Amino acid sequence: MGKPSPRSHQVHRRRRVLPLFIVVSLAALLLYSYCNSLLPFSSLAESSSRLISVHREPGVLSVNFTFTVKVLAFDRIESLRRCLRSLSGADYGGDRVNLHVFVDHFRTVAPGNDSDLLDHMLQEARRILQFVDGFSWQYGEKILHYRTSNAGLQTQWLEAWWPGSDDEFAFVVEDDLEVSPLYYKFLKRLIINYYYDSSNFSPSIYGASLQRPRFVPGKHGNKLRLDNETSLFLYQLVGTWGQLLFPKPWKEFRLWYDEHKSKGIPPILEGMVTNGWYKKMGEKIWTPWFIKFIHSRGYFNIYTHFSEERALSISYRDPGVNYGRSAGPDSVLIDRSSINLNLWETRPLKSLKWYDFCFREVHPGRVMRTLDELGLLLDSLHKQGTIIIVSLFRTPRNIARNLLCHFERLNITNYILLGDNSEFLLDLARTGHPVVDSVQLLSSFKHRDWSHLPNLETGLVTEFSLKAYVIKKSLESGYNTWLVGGDMVPITNAFNETMGSSVDFWASSGTELLYGRSSPTSAKTWNDIIPDIMAAHGPSVPLGSRAFISSAVGALEKRGSGKILTDESPVFNVAALGAVSNTNASSLLKKGKNVIHWAPGTSTDTLLGSLMNVGVWLINGDSSCTAVYCHHS
Ligand SMILES: *[C@@H]1O[C@H](CO)[C@@H](O)[C@H](O)[C@H]1NC(C)=O
Ligand SMILES: *[C@@H]1O[C@H](CO)[C@@H](O)[C@H](O)[C@H]1NC(C)=O
Ligand SMILES: *[C@@H]1O[C@H](CO)[C@@H](O)[C@H](O)[C@H]1NC(C)=O
Ligand SMILES: *[C@@H]1O[C@H](CO)[C@@H](O)[C@H](O)[C@H]1NC(C)=O
Ligand SMILES: *[C@@H]1O[C@H](CO)[C@@H](O)[C@H](O)[C@H]1NC(C)=O
Ligand SMILES: *[C@@H]1O[C@H](CO)[C@@H](O)[C@H](O)[C@H]1NC(C)=O
Repeated sequence: MGKPSPRSHQVHRRRRVLPLFIVVSLAALLLYSYCNSLLPFSSLAESSSRLISVHREPGVLSVNFTFTVKVLAFDRIESLRRCLRSLSGADYGGDRVNLHVFVDHFRTVAPGNDSDLLDHMLQEARRILQFVDGFSWQYGEKILHYRTSNAGLQTQWLEAWWPGSDDEFAFVVEDDLEVSPLYYKFLKRLIINYYYDSSNFSPSIYGASLQRPRFVPGKHGNKLRLDNETSLFLYQLVGTWGQLLFPKPWKEFRLWYDEHKSKGIPPILEGMVTNGWYKKMGEKIWTPWFIKFIHSRGYFNIYTHFSEERALSISYRDPGVNYGRSAGPDSVLIDRSSINLNLWETRPLKSLKWYDFCFREVHPGRVMRTLDELGLLLDSLHKQGTIIIVSLFRTPRNIARNLLCHFERLNITNYILLGDNSEFLLDLARTGHPVVDSVQLLSSFKHRDWSHLPNLETGLVTEFSLKAYVIKKSLESGYNTWLVGGDMVPITNAFNETMGSSVDFWASSGTELLYGRSSPTSAKTWNDIIPDIMAAHGPSVPLGSRAFISSAVGALEKRGSGKILTDESPVFNVAALGAVSNTNASSLLKKGKNVIHWAPGTSTDTLLGSLMNVGVWLINGDSSCTAVYCHHS
């Protein structure tokens, strides 16, 4: 999270009354919170009063949820034995926990094949079933699901669970794992803190992985590096060695998978090491599907990070689908004696770090509501003194998302989004894009009342004043400032080039592109012309996205102060989409063009076709980028 402590967009879930399985004493929670110096006292007071008001019985926070361990087994009886032993040796604190064991069938042996082999496999299967049958599980129900034919890892995972309610959790373990005796206590604490405590809840979180975080899929699977201070963080990647799944995202995934698999849409996400896995293993594995889904939704997983390669769940990497030979334990298991760990420290969600598939830090929930928040955000964003203000008024969602994919491709991060679709903007903020809440920002400061202006609709008043004041704030903060419309895609990052010290303002008359140089003169000029911009109206002002630029250029010319250039620019070369349909982005680049724009009123379908022709359409059927772009620093 940046400096401006923005509140994340929170979704409040309806609480439902469900069977009692787990009751947590509020007293214990308070005591714990009191010991946790990271939780400010005010928020402690807030949360305790909220809890009491939600649950009428004072003093008791009742959280009812079911917890089921899903063990995926095949033909490795020794592995399964070790796995189940560790599960039954864990501390469940008297809670009810279910155990479901899925035993996959051996692969069919062709008729005429060695019948000794077949007998051996039948015998092995019986030994495994017998072992699970005889295995005593005292914490809840035990169910054994024995398949009639070989399902494979993908089906084993996907069919392991269909959540029955929003208060059901599944912890999936493959049979070559061993879990820490502390694993359940830890997961329970996560569920209570990050799922049931609405002040720490985020709809983006799909679960928690207990395995040691190891690699970065967007960077060829490179080793992941973290500082020693981070003990709990969020990361997009799923961890298959001990994964807790939250019900809603899992159900959403199952439906998504169903649709994509049925329609034959492969889970390819360019730039990811998992494409190679998919090409090699195909439908034997499930992770490429899940990863693609998580990318399209912008979801995250909770991870732990302990020193000395320790973890609450470890994999022995026994021979099977993933390993030809045993690779040995991947990490060191945390046992009961590991008392010096910060295991029980659950920090507020706001203070945790979030990382994407490139292991690049992302900052969800940056919604600027006041000019002060905006100022702090600009200070944290600017790159070489430049800020890009992106105007998404009237921009269709896919077109806006395509623009953001180009920003990602070009490593452009110094932007902020303005627009009129607040639901869409809030969702963009949830996935890490900084946005302005236009209504709140405008009402947060005493700007002039422009409602007396004739011929200017209220929507335009809002749009004009928002753009005018955000540009003003950026120029006053000392940044070269770009206003960039949603009616273009950049081919290169020309926004980082300076226009030269002789140009105070530059505008492209055909498109919504405006530049203001960081200087006291430009800041003053801009401030002076705001009334003129707002007053510009009548038939001479074209409708749509260019209205603001026309008004601004008119006002600047009228004022005659500062050097204004239109169109010709040493660094900016705009190509009209209509004129470039027979070419492609790389040949445009050779001609020195760095932006493609299109005329207002172009229908979205036509636009989409043209952008595809030129090769600058980067959006897939899920309305997300077709690739991840990791930039090495
Ligand atoms: C939890 O479930 C039990 C049993 O159904 C019920 O009596 C109790 O009221 C529930 N508690 C809450 C807080 O939902
Ligand atoms: C017999 O089955 C095994 C295991 O499925 C396989 O590796 C082998 O190639 C088969 N042999 C013949 C002759 O089909
Ligand atoms: C992190 O901890 C390890 C092991 O305790 C130590 O070797 C390393 O120097 C530490 N790194 C930093 C940056 O403190
Ligand atoms: C701007 O970014 C491009 C890459 O997108 C880079 O080649 C160029 O050197 C950068 N210019 C400045 C002034 O940093
Ligand atoms: C782009 O067009 C040029 C010439 O028209 C061609 O040589 C080049 O291969 C094209 N590039 C791509 C990526 O299609
Ligand atoms: C991408 O941007 C980041 C953050 O501004 C910067 O640290 C990094 O060097 C850039 N990478 C490349 C390849 O330009």
